Amino acid sequence: MRFRAERVPGKGRGKQLGFPTVNLRIPDGLQIPHGIYACWVRIGAQTYPAAMHFGPVPAFGEADPSLEIHVLDRVLESTPEWVEVEVVRWIRPVQDFDSPEALRAQIQQDLVACREALGVAADPTERVAAHLRRLGVPFHVHRFDRSTRTAREAAQTLGTTPDRIVKSLLFLADGNPVLVLVSGSHRVSTEKLARACGANRVRPADPETVVRVTGFPAGAVAPVGHATPLPVMMDDALLTADVVYAGAGAPDALVALPPEHLRRVTAARVLDLREEP
Ligand SMILES: Cc1cc2nc3c(=O)[nH]c(=O)nc-3n(C[C@H](O)[C@H](O)[C@H](O)COP(=O)(O)O)c2cc1C
Repeated sequence: MRFRAERVPGKGRGKQLGFPTVNLRIPDGLQIPHGIYACWVRIGAQTYPAAMHFGPVPAFGEADPSLEIHVLDRVLESTPEWVEVEVVRWIRPVQDFDSPEALRAQIQQDLVACREALGVAADPTERVAAHLRRLGVPFHVHRFDRSTRTAREAAQTLGTTPDRIVKSLLFLADGNPVLVLVSGSHRVSTEKLARACGANRVRPADPETVVRVTGFPAGAVAPVGHATPLPVMMDDALLTADVVYAGAGAPDALVALPPEHLRRVTAARVLDLREEP
C-alpha cells in the first residue's frame, strides 16, 4: 500500500515529545484503518524507515484524524513539501494516554516494532557500517568483549599505540556543534578550533547534547552516521598513520580504515588542531 501526500503544518508537540513528525494532508480515499504503522518514506531521492500515526490524537484531546510520520534515527536536513509513503505493517491501534511520558514510552516501543518490521538494525554499529558501505570505502568493524570507550582502552585492547586511535569529540563553537577527529595521543586545542571555526567560544558538548546531536552515547561516537548533519574537522597528525581505529557507535566496537578514507567519508576539513605538548 503506497500513497503520496503533501506536508501540512503540525502543532509542534512532536518535537517536545522527542519524536518530531512530518504532518501530512490525508489523501482522498486513503483506505487503511486508523493505527500506528511501520513504513518507508521517500523524500526526494532518499528513502527512510519511519513510523506513521494515522487517526485521532486522543492523548491531546483531538478527535479529528491526523496523518504524520516520524523518520527513524535521523533529523531531516530540510522539510519536504511532498512525501511518498509505503505502508509495511500495522503495529497497534491509536490509544489514549494519561501523560506525555506514557505516550513517549509507548512510541519508543513502537519504534522497536517498526525497526523489526522493516528489518532496520537498531544496533548503532550497523548504522555506521551501513553508512560506510553506502559510501563505498573498505573498512572493518572490530567488536571486543571489553570496553574501547577511551583511547587508552582502545589502544590496549588492540595492542596498538594511541596515535592510531581516533577520538571523535563533539564541541560547541558559539553554540554550533562541530565534530573534531584527533588522535588518542593528542588533545584538541580549543584556541586553534575557535580560530578555525571563527568562533569566540568553544567548549566540549555535554553528554546529553552528544547523544541528541550525534545519536551516539559519549565515548562511542562514530565519525559518520550521525543523527544530524555535522561539520567535521580532522587533525592532520592522523594522516600520518597507515590505518586508524575510530569509534563505531558502541562502547565495545571500533572501525578500522585508512585515514585518507576517514577524511573522505567525513568530508572533514584537515588542519592542525592539536594542543602543543
Ligand atoms: C509512532 C507514533 C505513535 C503515536 N501514537 C499515538 C497514540 O497512540 N495516541 C495519540 O494520541 N497520539 C499518538 N501519536 C501522535 C502524537 O501525539 C503526535 O505525534 C503529537 O501530538 C505531535 O503532533 P504535532 O506534529 O501536530 O505537533 C503517535 C505518534 C507517533 C509518531
